[in-house]
Amino acid sequence: MSKLWGARFSKKSDPLADLFTFSISYDHRLAKYDVVGSIAHAQMLGKQGIIPKSDAVKIVTGLKKILGSIEKGKFKYDPKAEDIHTDIQSRLKSLIGKPADKLHTARSRNDQIVLDMKLYCRDEIAQLTAAVIGLQKAIVVFSKKNADVIIPAYTHMQAAQVVLLAHHMLAYVQMLERDKTRLFDCAKRGDFMPLGSCALSGTSLKIDRLYIAKLLGFSKVAANSMDAVSDRDFIVELISTCALATIHLSRMAEDLIFWVTQEFDLIDIDESFCTGSSIMPHKKNPDVLELIRGSSAKVVGYLTQIHVLLKGLPLTYNRDLQLDKPALFDSVDTTKNMLLVMTKIFASLKVKTANAAQRVKDESFFTVDVMDHLVKKGVSYRDAHDILGKMVSDCLKRGRALSSLSLGQLKQYSPALDGSVKKLLNPLMSVKMKASLGSTNPDLVHKQLDLWAKALGQ
Ligand code: ARG
Repeated sequence: MSKLWGARFSKKSDPLADLFTFSISYDHRLAKYDVVGSIAHAQMLGKQGIIPKSDAVKIVTGLKKILGSIEKGKFKYDPKAEDIHTDIQSRLKSLIGKPADKLHTARSRNDQIVLDMKLYCRDEIAQLTAAVIGLQKAIVVFSKKNADVIIPAYTHMQAAQVVLLAHHMLAYVQMLERDKTRLFDCAKRGDFMPLGSCALSGTSLKIDRLYIAKLLGFSKVAANSMDAVSDRDFIVELISTCALATIHLSRMAEDLIFWVTQEFDLIDIDESFCTGSSIMPHKKNPDVLELIRGSSAKVVGYLTQIHVLLKGLPLTYNRDLQLDKPALFDSVDTTKNMLLVMTKIFASLKVKTANAAQRVKDESFFTVDVMDHLVKKGVSYRDAHDILGKMVSDCLKRGRALSSLSLGQLKQYSPALDGSVKKLLNPLMSVKMKASLGSTNPDLVHKQLDLWAKALGQ
């Protein structure tokens, strides 16, 4: 396979140098984008009369043939090619002969690779967004199915208060919504067309960059040729967005792993998403969730890798930039897979409602509700805190429940405490008492569920 730059060299490159520098083993994934970009470029060259129209037509026809084989899944990259640009170029040459040599007019691989990557990102952002929406939908369906279940909620890994399970679930939906807006931002900020920057300074040929941008669906052209060929911010942003999305997924996974423990026993994960032990026949382990939790480490690692790769890199193109690809491709693939697996897990998840009901009986969950009651009667928050602190401590020492205190005993803690306090000491009352916007109040949560279902087209 001949290289695109061989003429200046009298020596053949060392095979080890080839092995070390070739990117075809991973950039072959860009084949479709490389061809689509080249079609637009050739059309522009023909329209501008930079190359004869008849040659442009031959180039476009040849490229469309290659595109057809890519779309049918029949394209097999040539491992002897240096990169995907070289591979496509030489295929075109063998298809149409001499006119193929005119395709690279007013273009460098430096702007070509940025274009390929931008087209790749655009497609993947759409797929990632669809996967995020798919998971949001699965969570909303699961929450609606279990809309009245109440569970304990934690701070410091200590059971603290009770909430609707749906309220906890909608927290995930919010996280994912932010991921979606970040993906949207990535697409918006990356929406400029780099072609025409050539190696770095532009060209003296009369190209029409706006025309290529229009053909390829970009709304702007890159304003500075040096920035265009050296900028990889759009890659950093997409990896960063993926990294944060995987962190969200790892947090969800951790909650579910926690809930599936024998100690908690709140949910059941379908067997098809669990694995067994080679030595302990009774085990049913949440390995899929553990790998979701663990995979996030990989993407966070790639985020560090791309930052360090770019740090201190002088303008303009440097070959280091080639290494952005494995990091980005694997970040996107991993994130997408994690989203898809988590969606299936949610679709198969079952809540152990009897256990949930048992777990929310502890009356210490309701101390804040009693405090709020006292505040409504004019007691200061600080005093209410002290009163409840003393009550809880006494009850703990004597092994008693708050609800077992007589009216007389209640009055000893505070004259503002009356018999109605006992009505507060149950989980349903606790969630119903919450009234603030964004709280776990069932009416508000159910309204949120409806809003999400509508927004997600369910
Ligand atoms: N494989 C290269 C990359 O991924 C393509 C650009 C090569 N440009 C060059 N001047 N060697 O960045």
